Amino acid sequence: MSLKTSCLSLALLLMTSCSAEKRHALSAPALSQTPICESYADYFKVGAALNVGTVDGTDSIGREIVKRHFNSIVAENCMKSEVIHPAENVYDWTDADKFVKFGNDNKMFTVGHCLIWHSQLAPWFCVDENGNNVTPDVLRKRMKDHIYTIMRRYKGKVQAWDVVNEAILDDGSYRDSKFFQILGEEYIPLAFQYAHEADPDAQLIINDYSMPNKGKRDTYVRIVNDMKKRGLRVDAIGMQGHNGMDYPDFDEFEKSIEAFASTGCDVMVTELDFTVLPTVTKTASVETNVAYEKEMNPYPDGLTPEVDRQWNDRMAQFMRLLMKHSDKISRVNFWGVKDADSWRNDWPMKGRKDYPLAIDRNLSVKPFIETSLRK
Ligand code: G3I
Repeated sequence: MSLKTSCLSLALLLMTSCSAEKRHALSAPALSQTPICESYADYFKVGAALNVGTVDGTDSIGREIVKRHFNSIVAENCMKSEVIHPAENVYDWTDADKFVKFGNDNKMFTVGHCLIWHSQLAPWFCVDENGNNVTPDVLRKRMKDHIYTIMRRYKGKVQAWDVVNEAILDDGSYRDSKFFQILGEEYIPLAFQYAHEADPDAQLIINDYSMPNKGKRDTYVRIVNDMKKRGLRVDAIGMQGHNGMDYPDFDEFEKSIEAFASTGCDVMVTELDFTVLPTVTKTASVETNVAYEKEMNPYPDGLTPEVDRQWNDRMAQFMRLLMKHSDKISRVNFWGVKDADSWRNDWPMKGRKDYPLAIDRNLSVKPFIETSLRK
């Protein structure tokens, strides 16, 4: 093949793949439906957690859907310490930079997740070369370096940070994480002090799941009030919102919204999804991986119309609750863009099909949005 012919073939190939991508992208119903963030514009910002494929263009439809439907984004994985800070003197900004640029290019409220978390923790962070816990002084310095370096890189570009994530257990006691073992309760105020010093303009969030539980509610109210009394800054309490068909009790969720708002903090629903699948185990941690069982995957070919209706009704009811408290809630963030990408499909059992988000597997916006807005 001559050089001229190869160039022509390459150009033809590029043109074909570009137009195929464009046709495919244009064929997603969500791309012509009312933007979700516009629907809730009078109530709160609406966001989504993004994986790397969405920002780097691997998932071009996903990226267009995000641009149209959300005015806020959160890093689903790329800012966790094991990814962004894999060794003491090594930071890997590759994916985090792409994420932040995408948010800034599209003028979205960009949220960093998460600075201090026991899970997906860089293996070196809390231990010495023999694997023993480091001293309190060493951990303070490591936390400070970690928080300062990351937050200062994105100062003015990331508007809010999940500073401490999942510190408390359901009964309200402190999680026995490495941070707690080494520094005790003080690690939380310290993290917020460092975060404020690193970027006084960013919103600082304390974030956890199962926030409707009375134990967590009471402890977080106490922690936040104590920090405020000491002159430390905490701006928002994040209620993750990994929900299901039979939990949480919405009355308890409402009590927590009210209790958290009473501290003077904003309330944010930070990781919203509603699984429709049966619970595999109630005590599973994020790392749990249970062997696949067919009975635990009841909707491999789609939801039945009845379950679909029940799911949408429950979502609409939940959104109405959030709208009722929109004076307290500044942001509602889905934990993912579309059903096909949700972590729920793989946790704690890989290979199930779940339907937990706002955009379905045919790339349409789900009906609960419109229902929730009806007077
Ligand atoms: O990066 C590797 C990739 O190289 C490899 O090919 C692939 C094979 O499975 O695994 C990839 O890592 C996975 C990572 O997600 C990125 O996809 C991990 O195994 C997997 O454990 C990890 O799961 C994430 C989980 O946090 C643990 O960090 C989920 O995507 C993410 O949605 C979930 O998010 C958490 C929040 O941060 C905190 N609150 C709960 C929420 C849900 O668990």
